[in-house]
Amino acid sequence: MKYTIPCLFGLEALVADELRRLDLKNVRAENGRVHCDGGPADIPRLNINLRCGARVLVELASFPAPDFEALFQGVAAIPWEDCIPRDGEFPVKGYSISSQLHSVPACQAIVKKAAAKRLGQAYGCETLPETGDRYQIQFALIKDTAAVYLDTSGDGLYKRGYRAHNNGAPLRETLAAALVLLSRYRGRDPFCDPFCGSGTIPIEAALIAKNRAPGLDRRFAAQKWQSLPAKLWLDAAEEAMDQEFHGQYDIWGGDIDPSAVELSRHNAELAGVDDCVRFEVADAGKFHRDSDYGQLVTNPPYGERLLEKREAEALYRSFGKAARTLPAGWRVLVLSSHTEFERAFGRSAEKKRKLYNGMLKCDAFFYHGGAKTEPDKG
Ligand SMILES: C[S@@+](CC[C@H](N)C(=O)[O-])C[C@H]1O[C@@H](n2cnc3c(N)ncnc32)[C@H](O)[C@@H]1O
Repeated sequence: MKYTIPCLFGLEALVADELRRLDLKNVRAENGRVHCDGGPADIPRLNINLRCGARVLVELASFPAPDFEALFQGVAAIPWEDCIPRDGEFPVKGYSISSQLHSVPACQAIVKKAAAKRLGQAYGCETLPETGDRYQIQFALIKDTAAVYLDTSGDGLYKRGYRAHNNGAPLRETLAAALVLLSRYRGRDPFCDPFCGSGTIPIEAALIAKNRAPGLDRRFAAQKWQSLPAKLWLDAAEEAMDQEFHGQYDIWGGDIDPSAVELSRHNAELAGVDDCVRFEVADAGKFHRDSDYGQLVTNPPYGERLLEKREAEALYRSFGKAARTLPAGWRVLVLSSHTEFERAFGRSAEKKRKLYNGMLKCDAFFYHGGAKTEPDKG
């Protein structure tokens, strides 16, 4: 079987690494998605274990589709009756890039009509009831080639199930996990997020430290599919739980807003990591740590959604000052979309990586603690 894992731009290499570690074959990364090959048992394995991927799509067909007739025939040739039962609901969504068929609603209608025709013939009915479980069809038209998928995830994989509410500007769980992986935190060092908001980064750090699969506490669309034995889900969950660690971890989140701290504690409880994450009301401008080494990964306000740009710069200045008191064994990773971040923070990053927080272009700025400072000219 062929799988496609869409992801936020910038996370492709991390998703490809995750797939290789899960022993998927023929892993190929492209802009915003990663492909691989595997068996049916990998549907639960991927959904339960992936930290950075957005969802798991099974590719059913790929064919040239320069016009509506080719699209119709290509979709009608897929043996839909092998995966969608008589009463299955099969909505269609998709996108088109650099293709002659550029009207997405028109393509959606053609894909729906072709799948309905095939299923109607297979089940001997003119109208399909669509009263049963959902089989979300997706298509991607790229340079006149159509790829047709079934979505096995349902809700996006960022919905781990632990964040019932948020605090206005939360980070996607998949991006928070990616930042923690990019920081190379693996559970040994002290870990801090001084702008923790709803606690996403510390909670994802705890899941990574414990090697706990992020999808163990939620449901996936394909769990209802009759074509996929329930035992595969049980086996995948068991395999994931067998790989959990049960160590001692030092993970801390701070926020100046007491309601954010309250929410973080609540979310950590829901995620089952409240035994190893502490949250406190604290000002990041007065941030201080005694330990000689550790990892700081954070997502301060950018000045686009929560604070005005000038206020964000003042905050970066005071946080930069505090971060410079960290001993040389600390590593710092800050995600910001603010173009003046480095100047306000007071140091040029040792390394930068472009990432997207939703549609917002950001940089991840990497520093070592205790390094030389640059005068703030702003
Ligand atoms: C972009 S949000 C962080 C979102 C977080 N990563 C999440 O997923 O929910 C920035 C957070 O910084 C907090 N903040 C603003 N000024 C602060 C300061 N001086 N010290 C600590 N936290 C501050 C805000 O209350 C807000 O919760």
